[in-house]
Amino acid sequence: MLRGMSIIPFYGAENRDLFEIERAAMDRPGKVIRYLDEVLPDGDLLDIGAGDGFTADALSSPTRSLFGVEPAQGMINADRSLSYVRASAESLPFTDNSFAGAYATWAYFFPGYLDISRGLDEIERVVQPGGPMVIVDNYGDDEFTSILDQDGAIDRGFWEPRGFTVNEIETVFEFVSQDDADRLMSLYVGLPVRRVPLVIGYRVAVMAKTN
Ligand SMILES: C[S@@+](CC[C@H](N)C(=O)[O-])C[C@H]1O[C@@H](n2cnc3c(N)ncnc32)[C@H](O)[C@@H]1O
Repeated sequence: MLRGMSIIPFYGAENRDLFEIERAAMDRPGKVIRYLDEVLPDGDLLDIGAGDGFTADALSSPTRSLFGVEPAQGMINADRSLSYVRASAESLPFTDNSFAGAYATWAYFFPGYLDISRGLDEIERVVQPGGPMVIVDNYGDDEFTSILDQDGAIDRGFWEPRGFTVNEIETVFEFVSQDDADRLMSLYVGLPVRRVPLVIGYRVAVMAKTN
């Protein structure tokens, strides 16, 4: 199953505990969820690379139904308020115009990492005309990426010619304990790191387009 697809290996499938720490810490103020809540309509919505359903769960409401595409069995969390399908962004198992809108948060749509053109074609195929398509990723050039010793910001030259507007949300990574902060940053840098700041400045990029 899913052979021939670009499935990006993700540590969270084997380390759910640490992923829960990450997901709660990143954007602790909830600004990204509030943004998505405002721009997404009612109706059936698609979350591509839904992970453990954190985002979909937060957006679900009596007037919205959330559907999650997720290739890794280990990420699926049956306790969340979404219907999962095991699939890849590159081959969405839905008919044309099935969804009122779609989004991906920190999943698959990494143009510097792989060719995402099949995924972009697929999202446009399954979202109804006039429906929003929103991609969320790290913006870069912030305190978070400087701790990781990474350079550069999101590539507007990729997104804007494809009709996406690129916006920035300024938020923070915020940890509730030193141990959580040190464990997660050690995973990111691949070395033991100690005394990581508990609050780290973090810029999020939001690429949005109407179909
Ligand atoms: C960083 S996690 C983000 C999860 C979730 N969107 C969130 O915000 O919490 C990335 C997710 O993308 C999934 N993924 C990897 N390759 C994928 C692909 N080709 N299509 C869709 N999802 C993919 C991973 O299994 C993982 O669950």
